[in-house]
Amino acid sequence: MIKIAISGKGGVGKTTLAGTLSRLLARKGYDVLAIDADPSMNLASALGIRNPPKPLTEFRELIDERAGGPAGVFRLNPKVDDIVEKFGVIGPDNVKLLVLGTVERGGSGCMCPASSFLKALLRHVILKMNSVVILDMEAGVEHLGRGTTKGIDIMLIVVEPGARSIETAGRIVELAQQIDIRRFGAIINKAGKQVKEIEDRLNDLGIEVAGVIPYDASLVQADMDNTSPVDKGGAAIEAMEKILEKLQIRKE
Ligand SMILES: Nc1ncnc2c1ncn2[C@@H]1O[C@H](COP(=O)(O)OP(=O)(O)OP(=O)(O)O)[C@@H](O)[C@H]1O
Ligand SMILES: [Mg+2]
Repeated sequence: MIKIAISGKGGVGKTTLAGTLSRLLARKGYDVLAIDADPSMNLASALGIRNPPKPLTEFRELIDERAGGPAGVFRLNPKVDDIVEKFGVIGPDNVKLLVLGTVERGGSGCMCPASSFLKALLRHVILKMNSVVILDMEAGVEHLGRGTTKGIDIMLIVVEPGARSIETAGRIVELAQQIDIRRFGAIINKAGKQVKEIEDRLNDLGIEVAGVIPYDASLVQADMDNTSPVDKGGAAIEAMEKILEKLQIRKE
């Protein structure tokens, strides 16, 4: 089993990539679990799922019961092996989707129970052979502070032309190393003329480029239509196929 987290600055294309990679991997015969770990929750539409599952955080009792003890002390090993079956939905190409959700009340602030629950899920979830978990993360670096991605195998960091998303990529790698993530790859998305320059800047930060996806208006249209871009094909989808080849996810 391999776990891939997709991170990066806001709006760079994380959800589009997470959804499309999930579908492409499933078509190659992998058992794919996609987890929407972004509180804005829009991975479902990028996967082509019309009726997303209820977010896990809406099952307060479940999270409290499994992740938090009576005194609000988080259990280290909540039971999570039935979660995918009970709370996930199965979408096109048999991709399973779980939605983490968000804190319901403004000002209540703490994502702690939900994140400790997700951490446990990543540690203990038992999937079939040849399974891949793809996590669509919240924009920015905050989730790294919560350590939600601890234990993932590959962190893909999406950047777009512009200095700001490259800076964020640098911060992500720095923080991710502190939680022992070892394998990184930057994905240059919405790429145009500046690819070489972006690649140089990423290399200066010690980040290798794992793939380049061109700007492709059909992805914008898919987003407008609330559908997965995977069926339409095109330059961006082909580039994502190449990224998968390069990642060399082994099959047993
Ligand atoms: N290669 C591309 N070419 C053109 N448009 C793209 C490309 N990749 C993504 N987009 C578009 O950019 C917008 C943002 O994409 P997406 O929602 O995947 O980003 P995100 O990083 O998940 O955003 P957020 O930080 O809000 O979660 C969408 O309209 C999407 O269709
Ligand atoms: Mg997103």
